[in-house]
Amino acid sequence: MAQGIFLDLVSRSPRETQHLGSYLGELAQAGDIFLLRGGLGTGKTCLVQGMAQGLGSAEPARSPSFVLVHCYEGRLPLYHIDLYRLECVEEVVELGLEDYFYGKGVCVVEWAERALSIFPPEHMLISLAYLSPRRRSLRMEPKGKRYEEMLEQVRYQIAAGRG
Ligand SMILES: Nc1ncnc2c1ncn2[C@@H]1O[C@H](COP(=O)(O)OP(=O)(O)OP(=O)(O)O)[C@@H](O)[C@H]1O
Ligand SMILES: [Mg+2]
Repeated sequence: MAQGIFLDLVSRSPRETQHLGSYLGELAQAGDIFLLRGGLGTGKTCLVQGMAQGLGSAEPARSPSFVLVHCYEGRLPLYHIDLYRLECVEEVVELGLEDYFYGKGVCVVEWAERALSIFPPEHMLISLAYLSPRRRSLRMEPKGKRYEEMLEQVRYQIAAGRG
């Protein structure tokens, strides 16, 4: 069971998931880290598409198929990391992914559960799950004060009817 602060949301379409991602992109600050976990087709890339849009990237986000990291240029660089093909945690160190976590961009990691131990302790953890063909659950769990504040802003956006 999750402990502490969290927010549970249900998305009823890919578009809703993208909208949520675009708020996150708008709210993101340099150095922010978003860790996404959840099975195949739960909407992780869809959420990243929204984040890239919210950060003002002209390039639409896709799954980084042969590379583990793809950078979208917007208000801040968005480093889209996909660990689906990761074979072992040591590979993350070899790839120098840590440089991204402590850099000036925003990091979003798909399949973060493959290497949870290597990420900075402060981040926004987002767990996605399949509910039905068009519905997905998203749980946002802030780890650290910065992310608790971000979650408050997300709640505010939703209450303001932007959700
Ligand atoms: N509410 C929803 N939110 C997001 N995607 C949805 C939703 N309903 C249906 N879908 C569909 O589910 C699929 C989600 O695909 P997406 O590539 O975003 O998943 P993923 O979690 O990144 O998968 P993978 O683990 O393969 O990377 C898309 O085909 C999308 O159209
Ligand atoms: Mg994906």
